[in-house]
Amino acid sequence: MGKKILISQKIPKEAVEIARNNFEVDYNEDENPLPPEELKKRLKDKNGIVCLLTDIMNGEVMDAAPNLEVISNVAVGYDNIDVNAATERKIAVTNTPGVLTDTTADLAWSLIMSVARRIAEADKHMRSGKWKGWGVMQWWGSDVHHATLGILGFGRIGKVVAKRALGFEMKVLYHDAFRAPEEEEKALKATFVSKEILLKESDFVSVHVPLMPETVHIIGENELKMMKPTAFLINTSRGPTVDEKALVKALKNKEIAGAGLDVYEKEPVMEPELADMDNVVVLPHIASASIKTRTRMGTMAAENCVAALKEEIPPACVNPEIYKK
Ligand code: DGY
Repeated sequence: MGKKILISQKIPKEAVEIARNNFEVDYNEDENPLPPEELKKRLKDKNGIVCLLTDIMNGEVMDAAPNLEVISNVAVGYDNIDVNAATERKIAVTNTPGVLTDTTADLAWSLIMSVARRIAEADKHMRSGKWKGWGVMQWWGSDVHHATLGILGFGRIGKVVAKRALGFEMKVLYHDAFRAPEEEEKALKATFVSKEILLKESDFVSVHVPLMPETVHIIGENELKMMKPTAFLINTSRGPTVDEKALVKALKNKEIAGAGLDVYEKEPVMEPELADMDNVVVLPHIASASIKTRTRMGTMAAENCVAALKEEIPPACVNPEIYKK
């Protein structure tokens, strides 16, 4: 019997083709996740799944698929997958690192520029027909050039965000559980500091940590209080890294100047008060959404899945220990 793959939601056609050229495919060509019972039912006779970050892959779901060999996420983050449960069951978990680094860093930068120069707010004003002509006192924002950028989480994406800051002649501070090699710090002109110093001194704090138990609410009430009242918070990582209710409170109390958000604690819902705040730019989790990048994420996920089903170690496996004899 040949192996079978479930593609849980609509993905780029190039990725579907890779899967179909190699194995039998059950494709849910829909842009919404399958309800858990339906997911379990369709997974029952499958050997691999290509899934999205909105598919919750826990032990219960895995147990519904006794032949499951690989869970291939179309994302670099894989907090939707219980990796320990997968490892216990000798199921490979794969992700799509590297291919979305630059595109995500670009989006973090779009948010930095937007909140600093009030782009979304000014665009709205222009469209409303309320603009009465140029005035020297209008639309003042904050400078990005020569400001201080604080990068929380100095992995692949955080480092590229730092690289872009060189062009704006910014002072770059970073904090991470691991300090970067000296030559990398030098090349990026980035200074390692404590989280506290980063929060106290930065004009823009950009979050780039992966979501794990230690990073839930890494920005909470206390952290927001440490930030300057003129500073902006940018989040393109995962929603739960920021305590969204505390953020709303800090924004209301003018403890910080504004925020640029691409992710939310309870996606697709955001704290409703954010919608009424002009100093906040909110995007629907689009950081990696360029044509090239989303296509490559899809094909990479399909390649990971196919490799695992051909008994090869997939190129981006997050639990390679399952292959150790
Ligand atoms: C990821 O890859 O983890 C993003 O959030 C979607 O690009």
